Amino acid sequence: MASAPAPAQKVIVVYGATGTQGTAITLSLLESKENFAIRALTRNPESEKAQSLARLGANVVRADGHNDDQMRAALEGAWGFWLNTHHHDAAVMEPNGPSDEDLGRRLVTIAAEAGIKVFIYSTCGSPAEITNGKAPVPGMDAKHRVEVFARQFPTFDAVIGAWPAWYFENFIDAEYAAAFGGFPMQADEDGYLTFTSPRVGGEGTVQTVSVADDFGEMVHALFLDPSRWHGRTVPLMSDAFSYEDMVGAFSQVTGKNARYIPMESYEDFPTHGDSVLVELQDVYRYMQNANGWFFGEPDNVETSQRLKDKARLDKGLEPQHLISMQEYFAKHYGGQ
Ligand SMILES: NC(=O)c1ccc[n+]([C@@H]2O[C@H](COP(=O)([O-])OP(=O)(O)OC[C@H]3O[C@@H](n4cnc5c(N)ncnc54)[C@H](OP(=O)(O)O)[C@@H]3O)[C@@H](O)[C@H]2O)c1
Repeated sequence: MASAPAPAQKVIVVYGATGTQGTAITLSLLESKENFAIRALTRNPESEKAQSLARLGANVVRADGHNDDQMRAALEGAWGFWLNTHHHDAAVMEPNGPSDEDLGRRLVTIAAEAGIKVFIYSTCGSPAEITNGKAPVPGMDAKHRVEVFARQFPTFDAVIGAWPAWYFENFIDAEYAAAFGGFPMQADEDGYLTFTSPRVGGEGTVQTVSVADDFGEMVHALFLDPSRWHGRTVPLMSDAFSYEDMVGAFSQVTGKNARYIPMESYEDFPTHGDSVLVELQDVYRYMQNANGWFFGEPDNVETSQRLKDKARLDKGLEPQHLISMQEYFAKHYGGQ
């Protein structure tokens, strides 16, 4: 008896494939047992990051999101599209140029015209809506509008918003560390690794995700069962913890002196006129108005764990629990 024909290959296009989110998603999808082909977009296919994805089996394609022809070619014949635009990129910050929202809407439109069936967008809820207008965060509100815009296209079978929590990766980023007082890299004049920030609000625990350890697998799972998640904005997290517990765990792991110093008001967070830092001030104001919940709702680690389990099953890997704050610090700073 003739064997059943193999299911048609599904091409998934990953925008920003060399970035934090895109790399994690590409690496996980490349291990899928489904008949996926991964087209990894970058503006510079010769870069070391792009080349290492190519060596692992990704089809690396040059495309700039601001170039419609390149994007049309990059999306041709594809089934799935992961889109994550960086809303602090200089190219979307020019006063008279396209905004991140303009770029997002244009890329959604090009994707729909190209016949993409499953569109997954790196997004967030709308702080303005969640707080009844009390604490908007313009960059986040704009991303949410792009997701809502995408839902209007009848040619997509599924439109899914993947909402990453605060990154664990911020704690291995020197610029981020400097913005928050130096923790966990630079000691202050008292010899402490000091984390200083406005209060989170509510019970003071911060919803956080490791993009490399967990988020890539969670988004992989969304591509496995898109109709189940269609029309939803899915909050994705690994752990939640207070800053007091965070510095305590760090000291335990490394033996170094670390402390948390809260600021009186979100307005005390220094911005130096930098758009990322201005947004962080807005995010603290938002969380203080949302019971301390970055997602505007309580922790839901079960959904995140279920997605991770699904992706690992697809890859033929053993289940693994979502990484905890202590484990993250042990992994990155435990050897010191
Ligand atoms: N930090 C946090 O806690 C946090 C939490 C939630 C969400 N976020 C959001 O996550 C987003 C950033 O994602 P990320 O961390 O993955 O960013 P990232 O590491 O900076 O990666 C962005 C990627 O996009 C690509 N890219 C940039 N401009 C492009 C263009 N014009 N055309 C095509 N590709 C372009 C770049 O690839 P090439 O250079 O190879 O082209 C780059 O690798 C931001 O919007 C941020 O607010 C951050």
